[in-house]
Amino acid sequence: RRLVVLVSGSGTNLQALLDEIAATGAETYGAEIVAVGADRDGIEGLARAERAGLPTFVCKVRDHATREEWDAALAAAVAAHEPDLVVSAGFMKIVGKEFLARFGGRFVNTHPALLPSFPGAHGVRDALAYGAKVTGCTVHFVDDGVDTGPIIAQGVVEIRDEDDESALHERIKEVERRLLVDVVGRLARRGYRIEGRKVVIQ
Ligand code: GRF
Repeated sequence: RRLVVLVSGSGTNLQALLDEIAATGAETYGAEIVAVGADRDGIEGLARAERAGLPTFVCKVRDHATREEWDAALAAAVAAHEPDLVVSAGFMKIVGKEFLARFGGRFVNTHPALLPSFPGAHGVRDALAYGAKVTGCTVHFVDDGVDTGPIIAQGVVEIRDEDDESALHERIKEVERRLLVDVVGRLARRGYRIEGRKVVIQ
């Protein structure tokens, strides 16, 4: 299976996938990363891809006259690599109709909270501010909402009294990286069906 991974930041989830595939081999894992895309340049996620010798592309909203044109350009940039599965690993843009028309049903996102709680760009901060006792991470298929697609897997992380946002996010990311590596591998090796809100991995 061919994976394209989309990033916007440090890329530690991307790195976890790279390390797993290097350790187990693409055959055994069931997938290889064929390209990494981003919505901005100068980020560690792209540097990680370059160090791994992978093709990269950057698709910036401000380089396009409209959001729809950006969305179409992103879809085309991803499609050029003929992915079987697209993974958003900290990609911080909401894709639109064109992208979903082409990759819906094979576009996976990881979110650092237990959806449907705390969707959006500040899930870690929101859970902390709310006074939740547990939070975690969610790997889900992307649909036309924000963090609302069918859930594939979740991992629970306790919130400690002394936590600030970055300490909690780091602890969530330890669980999230393992969850993402496990889910992507299972989807790639075994195939899956999406039945309404249920994801059935064969
Ligand atoms: C992850 O926790 C992801 O869920 C969130 O941003 C973080 C990205 O981390 N959207 P990294 O870029 O993979 O290190």
